[in-house]
Amino acid sequence: MLSFPSMKILGIETSCDETSIAVLEVNPPTRKASEGTVKVLSNIVSSQVKIHAPYGGVVPSLAAREHEKNLKPVFEKALKEAKNEMSEINLIAVTVGPGLEIALWKGINFSKGLAQEFKKPIIAINHLEGHIYSNFFKSKKIKFPALNLIVSGGHTQLVLMTGHGKFKIIGETQDDAAGEAFDKVAKMMNLGYPGGPIVSKLAEKGNPKKFQLPRPMLNQKNYNFSFSGLKTAVLYLLKELGQINQKTMADICASFQQAVIDVLVQKTIKAAKEYKSKSILLSGGVSANKLLRKTLQKETKKLKMFYSQPDFQYTTDNAAMIALAGFYKNKVSKKSEKLIASPNLKIKKW
Ligand code: KG4
Ligand code: ZN
Repeated sequence: MLSFPSMKILGIETSCDETSIAVLEVNPPTRKASEGTVKVLSNIVSSQVKIHAPYGGVVPSLAAREHEKNLKPVFEKALKEAKNEMSEINLIAVTVGPGLEIALWKGINFSKGLAQEFKKPIIAINHLEGHIYSNFFKSKKIKFPALNLIVSGGHTQLVLMTGHGKFKIIGETQDDAAGEAFDKVAKMMNLGYPGGPIVSKLAEKGNPKKFQLPRPMLNQKNYNFSFSGLKTAVLYLLKELGQINQKTMADICASFQQAVIDVLVQKTIKAAKEYKSKSILLSGGVSANKLLRKTLQKETKKLKMFYSQPDFQYTTDNAAMIALAGFYKNKVSKKSEKLIASPNLKIKKW
């Protein structure tokens, strides 16, 4: 158990296409709440989805332009909703990577400006570590070692966590991320962007057993993933089928989704057993997928391990998770990191 004074943290996130700023209040342990309590006072997310949708993916220069435009109003809204002034903030936590370099710089420079003006300390946060902490808003039962399955648009990783900030990557995708595969499959069928929510919605009406698609790397001894071959298999299937109706489209979506989930869940469960983890934590944009949530929860229960998944509003990119990671990192880490945009930043020990 960590002991600490009450703190307010301003989180800032601009790694991709969401401009987000949050105010978080973390209160020290009491007899009732032995781990302390976390209150999200505000978590403003300004999404750029509509701007990037016509291009079928995120355009970095447009993302940077939008962040530049949105940061100030989002910041003002976040403070107003939290009924707070900058004078009450103890720490600024900002995402420095991984992500789009020019987008990351917008958030970093904005935080530097605030830090200078209001004389506040800043802490550099890894976006993926932020996703991990999206499971720590209210759960008191997370026991270490905890195995994290992080599935987003840019990353797919299994990260073993033996304590706060004690991370070890035990597997990752060799090519496409899970969310990227959903987005690309949606693009092949002209379904729109981002593809994950659209494909999973259509999949609800489809038969997951209709098409036999590959389960890449399922039986390999390591904990790495690969989704590029699966995506290509869908492409060949579409070519072979030619014109398709709504029902077939739903069947393709369901069969594809099932293949992704089979690989993610089976490899996570195998790793959890090998590493004797006590908890399994799901996070990242793809953790919004209802079937993935249900399947991983069911399989974790069989192992009698503790399971956690973020509330829906914390599955995709948001600054509240960055602020919470900032709180823990500030407690645990003695290192001071440079505030430099790092597009390929890796998860590492604090
Ligand atoms: O974490 P996130 O918001 O951004 C990154 O850090 O990449 O994740 C976005 C990804 C996109 O690829 C999106 O298609 C996917 O999450 N996603 C989903 C669902 N909702 C969002 N994938 C599958 N099923 C969903 N319901
Ligand atoms: Zn993300």
